[in-house]
Amino acid sequence: MKPLEGKVAIITGAAQGMGLETSLELARRGAISVLTDIQAEKLEQALETIRAIDNRSTSFSLDVSKKEEWAEVVESVRNRYGAIDIIVNNAAIFTVKPFEEIPEAEWDRVFAVNVKGVLFSCQTAAPVMRQQKSGRVINMASQAGKTGGLLVGAHYSVSKAAVICLTKTLAAALAPDNITVNAVAPGIINTDFLHGVPGIASMFGRIPLGKKPGEASDVAKAVAFLASEDARYITGEILDVNGGLLMD
Ligand SMILES: NC(=O)c1ccc[n+]([C@@H]2O[C@H](COP(=O)([O-])OP(=O)(O)OC[C@H]3O[C@@H](n4cnc5c(N)ncnc54)[C@H](O)[C@@H]3O)[C@@H](O)[C@H]2O)c1
Repeated sequence: MKPLEGKVAIITGAAQGMGLETSLELARRGAISVLTDIQAEKLEQALETIRAIDNRSTSFSLDVSKKEEWAEVVESVRNRYGAIDIIVNNAAIFTVKPFEEIPEAEWDRVFAVNVKGVLFSCQTAAPVMRQQKSGRVINMASQAGKTGGLLVGAHYSVSKAAVICLTKTLAAALAPDNITVNAVAPGIINTDFLHGVPGIASMFGRIPLGKKPGEASDVAKAVAFLASEDARYITGEILDVNGGLLMD
């Protein structure tokens, strides 16, 4: 029996990068991965890829910043599979810009996706998990949320600091119903996201493990661990996956 056999997992931002890799890793471990994203075409391709592993997987269009869309997806998943066991709040956006130049609307959009997206996921899905008396929420934070952004915008790094605090707040609130809430804080990981950060290669030499970025699968495996029975007594934890770039 696979460790996550039959567990229903909703993953946001699952059309590519770490979200897709996490969806695949959870499926390999027996979970039913529900892929969500705003990129329709890529989501379709991602679903084809994952169905080669598990044909129970499905996908939904979901803009995480819209609470009404969250409510629809939660309802559909519950009706279809009867449970929501795992949520991976992975979707996020960023831009690279000095803080003086960040327009207010851009600041608000980054917070709407990166922070409100996490809040809305729990506001809509926690009632289901509370009824089940079980659930796992794993949020994608970032090293930037601990150190301040080295190369990305202040709105991004501050939003990830908010994700770290929100993770702890939700962990305390949901613990009485046996729901754990943790975060993974990736350092520098080899995805399209990374390729959008000018000058990032200059950081590689400072990474103790191999002087190179991590792979999406390194993060996916950490998420899968937090979703597993092995992590049942862990909550409110921010798990670094950064090759030793930050040891705190
Ligand atoms: N790559 C890195 O080095 C790195 C480092 C630290 C943290 N992270 C975090 O890891 C997570 C995944 O990063 P990635 O590198 O795979 O990024 P990515 O840009 O490759 O993928 C992000 C996905 O989120 C989706 N998305 C964007 N806005 C959305 C919205 N409003 N609703 C739903 N989906 C939306 C995109 O369509 C995309 O598929 C993000 O939370 C990111 O902040 C990445």
